[in-house]
Amino acid sequence: SDVNVTKICCIGAGYVGGPTCAVIALKCPHIKVTIVDLNQARVDAWNSSDYNLPIYEPGLEQVVRETRGRNLFFSTDVDRGIQEADLIFVSVNTPTKKTGVGAGFAADLNFVEKATRRIAQIATSSKIVVEKSTVPCRTAESMRTILEANSKPGCHFDILSNPEFLAEGTAIADLLNPDRVLIGSLQTKAGKSACRSLCEVYANWVGLDHILTVGLWSSELSKLAANAMLAQRISSINALSAICEATGANIDEVAHAVGKDTRIGPKFLKVRSVGFGGSCFQKDILNLVYLSESLHLPEVAAYWRQVVEMNEYQKRRFTRRVVDTLFKTITGKKIAVLGFAFKADTGDTRESAAITLVKHFMEEKALISIYDPQVEHEQIWMDLQEAAPDYAPQQIKKQVQICPSAIDACHEAEAVVIATEWKEFRKLDWQAVYDNMSKPAFVFDGRLLVDADKLTKIGFKVEVIGRGA
Ligand code: NAD
Ligand code: UGA
Repeated sequence: SDVNVTKICCIGAGYVGGPTCAVIALKCPHIKVTIVDLNQARVDAWNSSDYNLPIYEPGLEQVVRETRGRNLFFSTDVDRGIQEADLIFVSVNTPTKKTGVGAGFAADLNFVEKATRRIAQIATSSKIVVEKSTVPCRTAESMRTILEANSKPGCHFDILSNPEFLAEGTAIADLLNPDRVLIGSLQTKAGKSACRSLCEVYANWVGLDHILTVGLWSSELSKLAANAMLAQRISSINALSAICEATGANIDEVAHAVGKDTRIGPKFLKVRSVGFGGSCFQKDILNLVYLSESLHLPEVAAYWRQVVEMNEYQKRRFTRRVVDTLFKTITGKKIAVLGFAFKADTGDTRESAAITLVKHFMEEKALISIYDPQVEHEQIWMDLQEAAPDYAPQQIKKQVQICPSAIDACHEAEAVVIATEWKEFRKLDWQAVYDNMSKPAFVFDGRLLVDADKLTKIGFKVEVIGRGA
């Protein structure tokens, strides 16, 4: 008969494991949820008495305040978490491999494998193991092989795929009200039973018409497909923005007109001149490219690869526009970069377009002053060092400075580049910014955030992407 889940363990207290399981705890007071992680500092931050949580996400603190110590626990005791649970989410990181076979494309499954091996080694009773991390198609099969080869007698493992579709910055809202919850299982008696057990958990707050149950491989592939198609829309609109600039068409008008077609729809057609960032779009597309190549489908691989290439082109194009506009040289010029996170309402900088921009500006020998309301300074230094390994740390600090406010960053700058769409940049006292800048004062709005007409009236020279002269 179906397992009635009363104890959940989540391995991985990151951007996905943390918010997802906090919401499960909120909505299922009868279930004890323990989130475990090897990273002591991260667990300490989740447990901090002043709720200085390791990730910034609107609404998250409130959920943790309500649940922590009631039925939500954070711990580094991975083994105990595994031992106690009926159901285990594996929500560890799956970054792009940096070396070895498939370097630069394939997902690094080392963390998934380690967690899986630990489950097999520690468990003394049967478990439902849920793949929450984004993984290549058929990873569940490898997990099953590892679990079965290492299990104790009498322990049975059922594996489910339950990919996460939340977006950072809106994670809590997405989790409370998901477009869909996707659960993949083997179509065996045991597989279907495990699937029903996980459905029961979500059914505490998600309508059954929003819970999709499919085969394991479809579920795994659907996650990669969804991210690839979202990113593809952005690359498509970015490609059209280049045509707009060359012809005098306006990309906002084009996107609006195109999106009115109900078959296309208006979402994810916003040009962000700086291109898409975030930990997953690029990683997951490259993963799909690698999968396609491994399956001897080179045309399919080339098709998806172009989505990433268009994004790189968009970032290069933006840098070139800044340099060209500033009279073809930015050597020794002060450029203020407002925003460093990959999108607003998060402190996450993974694959942020701002990193690439600052790197390009460094190569042009500009002086860069950065301000972001959420990103830790240490994180910015780490990102820049990683992006520019040939630069000595002192060299980076000679060219880059991190400022306590937007006004500070813009002081005596020749140009302001808006790299993240933080609301506070729209409300900035632009007159004061202008008064303290070198003239002519330029604004490059990489997020189509500010009112270009208003800024032009103040005296700025405003560069809007996707609009012809
Ligand atoms: P993350 O790096 O923020 O968190 C992963 C955590 O797992 C880390 O804290 C790490 O210390 C921990 N960990 C790694 N191996 C472990 C082990 N063996 N035992 C215990 N803990 C271990 O990553 P994330 O952003 O939460 O992403 C997790 C997965 O979810 C990835 O596969 C990602 O593709 C996917 N995903 C992410 C998002 C997102 O918005 N960030 C959205 C949907 C899906
Ligand atoms: C994305 C997906 O939206 C989630 O569904 C998915 O779960 C997640 O990836 C994941 O697998 O990690 P996320 O990267 O957090 O979520 O944020 P998005 O809102 O998708 O933004 C990604 C990037 O695209 C940002 O840099 C954003 O500025 C950019 N973007 C977004 C555009 O350039 N134009 C748009 O119209 C929308």
